[in-house]
This record gives sequence, structure tokens and C-alpha cells, in this order.
Amino acid sequence: MAATVFADSLLGKFTSSNKQRLAMVGTGDRGTSMWGIPVIDEFKDLVEFVGLCDINAGRVETAKKILGVSCATYTDFDKMMKEMKPDRLIVTTVDATHNEYIIKGMEYGADIITEKPFTTDEHKCQDILDAEKKTGKKIAVTFNYRYSPHRQKIYELLRSNVIGDITSVDFHWYLDVYHGADYFRRWHRLRKNSGSLLVHKASHHFDLLNWWIDSEPEEVFAFGSDIDIFDKMAVQIKYASKVQVSYSLTAYSPYEGYRISFNGKKGKLDAWIKERQPWEEDHFDEMQITTSFGKKAIVRIDNREGGHGGGDARLRKHIFNPGNDGDTWNQAAGSRDGAMSCLIGIAARNSIDTGKPVRIEDLVSIKPQAKRPTG
Ligand SMILES: NC(=O)c1ccc[n+]([C@@H]2O[C@H](COP(=O)([O-])OP(=O)(O)OC[C@H]3O[C@@H](n4cnc5c(N)ncnc54)[C@H](O)[C@@H]3O)[C@@H](O)[C@H]2O)c1
Repeated sequence: MAATVFADSLLGKFTSSNKQRLAMVGTGDRGTSMWGIPVIDEFKDLVEFVGLCDINAGRVETAKKILGVSCATYTDFDKMMKEMKPDRLIVTTVDATHNEYIIKGMEYGADIITEKPFTTDEHKCQDILDAEKKTGKKIAVTFNYRYSPHRQKIYELLRSNVIGDITSVDFHWYLDVYHGADYFRRWHRLRKNSGSLLVHKASHHFDLLNWWIDSEPEEVFAFGSDIDIFDKMAVQIKYASKVQVSYSLTAYSPYEGYRISFNGKKGKLDAWIKERQPWEEDHFDEMQITTSFGKKAIVRIDNREGGHGGGDARLRKHIFNPGNDGDTWNQAAGSRDGAMSCLIGIAARNSIDTGKPVRIEDLVSIKPQAKRPTG
């Protein structure tokens, strides 16, 4: 349980301790389950919630009960920021509104912790980058996919140079009919809310690619289905380092998982990640390294730990107690990483709409770098 906070607006900036003052906007499923309950549980000595805000009054009151906190609740974001003056603002609203809260949050003096996708179009992206520069505040983007043990292992193997310089990547992601169908039911089903599955869902995958390849995307060409958030997408990406990527996302597969193949100058790294089958006693994620004209090696990762293989908890540790845990695999992500991941999806969407390739540097003021700058 968080320490008591003075609810009186005039006293809002003072708390009963030196704990980091957190506020959240968007108190839905992700807000409460990933950034509410476990944060209070894991970091009660370091942080406390001073404000919760949602446009839905019922949701924000329910969130307060679920979190078991005594802080003030709001349906007016400006009022919360003025009264409570949080150190950090957690943004977990629907995707198309992230920009509004990230920018205002920084203008009110808070650093930002935002869920993916960073934002949903190139204009909002530029506005956020400009506001971060102007305010001097910092944005952390919570790419939890980087933290699962097997994806971390892929990063480690690629950086160890076991397959040499990467020349191309084949990456195919499958959502099964239950998981896939979910994206066509709630608010995500509308492009105006989610920016399409290329932004809402695939920005996770594009971030993994940017991180694994360690370069920035330069040019994108894509095909998609006639459903305007797309249920099948094929994307070609050329990186500034000249790496070529063939990516696809299928939202109606009989099974859930993905296949990825990194083709390098000295060999190849393959991974086929799929859900545990009923007949399997143990479930491991396997990778195969095949060196050119040489041997094969199998790498097995035990993925049984909870919360994405323990990744969720390590992400929270990076966000709330960074000094206590180094960043060996460069998993912490800032605004540039956030921008680059959603810009691939935005460029792909624009390419499907126009039938033409799209250059990232034509969308925002960032010039893609052959070696990915961290942050
Ligand atoms: N990293 C991940 O794996 C992951 C998983 C799920 C969701 N997410 C992201 O988390 C965010 C929230 O998703 P969710 O599944 O919790 O959705 P949700 O619908 O459960 O919650 C969203 C909340 O935002 C509120 N809201 C909507 N518009 C608002 C506005 N203009 N101002 C203030 N509040 C507003 C809604 O009332 C709702 O309570 C999304 O950006 C989503 O993409 C990330």
C-alpha cells in the first residue's frame, strides 16, 4: 500500500515521504495490471501513487479500489497535474491519445512512462519529439517484449557475432484465431484509435527488429488486406545498415507464435517460438545456430517463469529502480526507440494506402543511423 498522500490540492506537491510521486492516466487493464498492482507491490519503498485519471469516472474509481491506494482520482487531467504535480506520469490510455498526455505531462513538469505504441502518426510523433526537447523531460517507452529470456538470448547471440554481420532477416508472426480476433472487437478495431495493427501490434515486433539488428529503418514498402486495420500484412524494410527485412503478421492463424531467421555473413540463427502444446511435459524455446559450411548448435531457453518469462518484472525494475540492475542488453528504451518502432508501422500503413515506398526521413526530422543510437 502506498504511503498516505495529502488529498488537499494546495498540499498536493508534498507527500509523507521522499518517494517518487506517480500519476497514471488511463486506468484500464494495462494500467492497473502491469503498472498499478505490481508496481505498488514491488516498489512500495520507492514510489507512491498521488493521482489516477481516466475519462471514465467508474473506471478510475474501480482502479483506486483494485490498487488499494488512497490517492485522489480525476476525470480532468489538467486538474490532476496542477494539483498533484507528479514526478512521473504513466500513460496507458488508448494509443491515439498518448501524444496528448505525453506532451502535456512533460509541460506540467513530469517525466513520462508510456506504453507502446509511442504514437499513431508521424505528425504526433514529431510533436512529441519537439516537446521532449523543449521541456528537457524524459520519456521511457515500455517495450516489454525485449525482456523475455529468449529474445534477450537472441540479442546476446547476435552481439556475440556468432553469425557475423547480419545481412537479412525473415520474420513471421502469427496470432491465433482467439488472440487475433480480440483486436477486431475492442477500440483497437478502429484505425483512428490504434493506427492499425501495423502500429498497435506490429510496433512491438518492429522495435525488436531495430534492437536486434542494432540499426535504424530507412525505407518501407508494404501490402495489407482491405480491412483498414489489416488482418494480414507483409512489410519490406531496408535498414540504414543495408540489412533487408521481410516481415509478416497474420492475425488468423490456427496457432500462436513466430518464426525468425537472421542470415549473417558467417552463419544463420533460426528460432521458432510457439505456444506449449497439451502433450508437452516441458516447454522450451529453441534456437538453432548453423555456421556456414560448419556445425549446428541448439540453444534451449526455459520460459516457465511468470509474466513473459519474468520479463515484465525486470522491465519494471529498469523503470523504477534502474540503479539496482544494469542494462547489459540495452533493453531500456527512450523516445527515439519509441519513434523508430511506430514509424515503421506508420510508413507501412502509408505505403499500403499509396502503393509507394516510404522513407522514414520524409516523415519526421530524425535521420536514420546505420548504428542505432541508444535511447
Ligand atoms: N505492452 C503490451 O504488451 C501492452 C498490452 C496491452 C495494452 N498495451 C497498451 O496499453 C494501453 C492501454 O490498453 P488497455 O488494454 O489497458 O486498454 P483499456 O481499454 O483496458 O484501457 C484504456 C483506458 O483508457 C481510458 N481512456 C480512453 N481514452 C482516454 C482519454 N482520451 N483520456 C483518458 N483516458 C482515456 C479508457 O477509459 C480506459 O480506462 C494501450 O496503449 C495499449 O496499446 C500494451
